[in-house]
Amino acid sequence: MIYQADFLVDLTRRIFQAVGSNATEAEVVAQRLVNANLSGHDSHGVIRIPTYIKWIQEDKTRLNQTIDIETDNGSMVVIDGKFGLGQSIGQQAMELGIDRAQEYGVAVIALKDSAHLGRIGDWPEMCAKAGMVSVHFVNTSGMGNLVAPYGAIERRLSANPFAAGVPTQGEFPLILDMSACTIAEGKIRVALHAGKQVPEGCIIDSEGNPTTDPETFYGPPAGSILPIAGHKGYALSMIIEMMAGALTGGSCTNPDRAHQLSNGMLSIIMDRSKLQSEDYFFNEVSRYCEYVKSAKLMDENNKILMPGEIEHNTRAQRRADGIELSQTTIDMIQETCESLDVSSGFNS
Ligand SMILES: NC(=O)c1ccc[n+]([C@@H]2O[C@H](COP(=O)([O-])OP(=O)(O)OC[C@H]3O[C@@H](n4cnc5c(N)ncnc54)[C@H](O)[C@@H]3O)[C@@H](O)[C@H]2O)c1
Repeated sequence: MIYQADFLVDLTRRIFQAVGSNATEAEVVAQRLVNANLSGHDSHGVIRIPTYIKWIQEDKTRLNQTIDIETDNGSMVVIDGKFGLGQSIGQQAMELGIDRAQEYGVAVIALKDSAHLGRIGDWPEMCAKAGMVSVHFVNTSGMGNLVAPYGAIERRLSANPFAAGVPTQGEFPLILDMSACTIAEGKIRVALHAGKQVPEGCIIDSEGNPTTDPETFYGPPAGSILPIAGHKGYALSMIIEMMAGALTGGSCTNPDRAHQLSNGMLSIIMDRSKLQSEDYFFNEVSRYCEYVKSAKLMDENNKILMPGEIEHNTRAQRRADGIELSQTTIDMIQETCESLDVSSGFNS
């Protein structure tokens, strides 16, 4: 079934208000979840609602939290997210980071113990909108233990997204938003709901055999996701764990914390105007993008895309044509609505 973004925002807002979010939080969560669907990342969109509500009811995710500053060195700040809803905690952390980068030129924001931060691309997008260049390293310190180290068949690492954003004077900023593993777990769940297989080369079963079957991955016994690019992806994941886990104080992936999903994120936010003039920077960004796009194509039907372009295009297309949800996702959200006495409007 296909739904318009406004319908899904309204439904999501009402669900979070019913569970106890104040109006501001419900709005932020609704806009960010639906924006993930609009951006083409259904794995981080409204499919998450039933799980988020379950975690709230189990007191694993907390409502209406404001960030606490744990250590403040001006340009370097440690923030406790207090397991608040990540869409709101991430936004508060970035607001602080942008303010500090404006003041000091650069800000390092070490966020620990946020509930699920959702689509990480939101955070470099927010920084880029404020004119900032940024990089973000993310881990899940417990529940998201999903990825096998290079050459191993047991989970030791989280999906470890890395994101970066560069403002441009074009239609959209350059946004890289990628996990360091071959497939985000949410995408395996989307495939499971849709009764589909995942692409080859992404997951292994508990014995280390390659598989494309989401059910085999979830087990029991559970399989693992493989790192991107073999040893390089594994090494990248190790560094991301250090940044997002050890430096934030939120802990690297640790089975002792497996009862609760906690995202750590280390963000470095830079005021580009302190390094280069506006004219030089934007002219160079645009010259280089054009130069890259001018490369001769392997297949003339193909197109060279910039990081973030596919999400930008998908947002335009889905705003016009709507967002498709699988029946399983609809049924699960419907069940959540019934448990909270919220009218879903799915059948009207
Ligand atoms: N909160 C968490 O703990 C968590 C964990 C893992 C993943 N995630 C999110 O899951 C989502 C999916 O991650 P993923 O690894 O599957 O990302 P992906 O593989 O879909 O995309 C990765 C990046 O590649 C870019 N890209 C795609 N095609 C391109 C092309 N042809 N040319 C140039 N650039 C291109 C995209 O713009 C994007 O920046 C992300 O939004 C991520 O933040 C979140």
